[in-house]
Amino acid sequence: MENKIKVNGLTFVPFITRSQIAEQVKRVAAEIRRDLADSQPVFICVLKGAFVFAADLIREIGINDCTCSFVRYASYEGTSTTGNVRQLVGLTDDLEGRDVVIIEDIVDTGLTAVKMISDIRAMNPRSVRFATLLHKPASSRTGFEPDYIAFTIEPKFILGYGLDLDGKGRNLHDIYVIEEGNN
Ligand code: IMP
Repeated sequence: MENKIKVNGLTFVPFITRSQIAEQVKRVAAEIRRDLADSQPVFICVLKGAFVFAADLIREIGINDCTCSFVRYASYEGTSTTGNVRQLVGLTDDLEGRDVVIIEDIVDTGLTAVKMISDIRAMNPRSVRFATLLHKPASSRTGFEPDYIAFTIEPKFILGYGLDLDGKGRNLHDIYVIEEGNN
């Protein structure tokens, strides 16, 4: 794992290694496989941040009879949540009667997750589950609890493995956290 990195003038330090990520992806994949083994689930990857996690998770789950969709909300700028959640775009699939698993990078206030679940429920799926790479329960404004969580973390700004700061850092193999006191 590389040492400190700088993104847009802010310093980030190593936080979760790629091997720790791989281990937890395997665990979450096993939980989802157990719950949906007899189903033909539809995995909905929330762009952009979840694309790396979703790619690893969906392959690790190993249910062949599945489909993958991609949706997008934009609700976050810089290092703090704006609190205004926008419209869901990109969902063209018919979800009627399907078992849906939403795959998200991070649940912070929970506002995005709650809105997404309600938008997806309106499409009459059989079930809706929510998997997240990271959960910051201390920042919750909704009390929302994801069904599957790879890591529960403190409410600090992180990037890497799909997560970004103003578009940067998504390509990093590992997860980094903003350095305390030095920014
Ligand atoms: P929520 O609606 O407040 O739960 O925000 C969820 C979205 O905020 C995520 O999908 C991310 O795009 C973004 N976000 C929240 N915390 C972070 C972070 O620490 N790093 C990068 N993006 C974050």
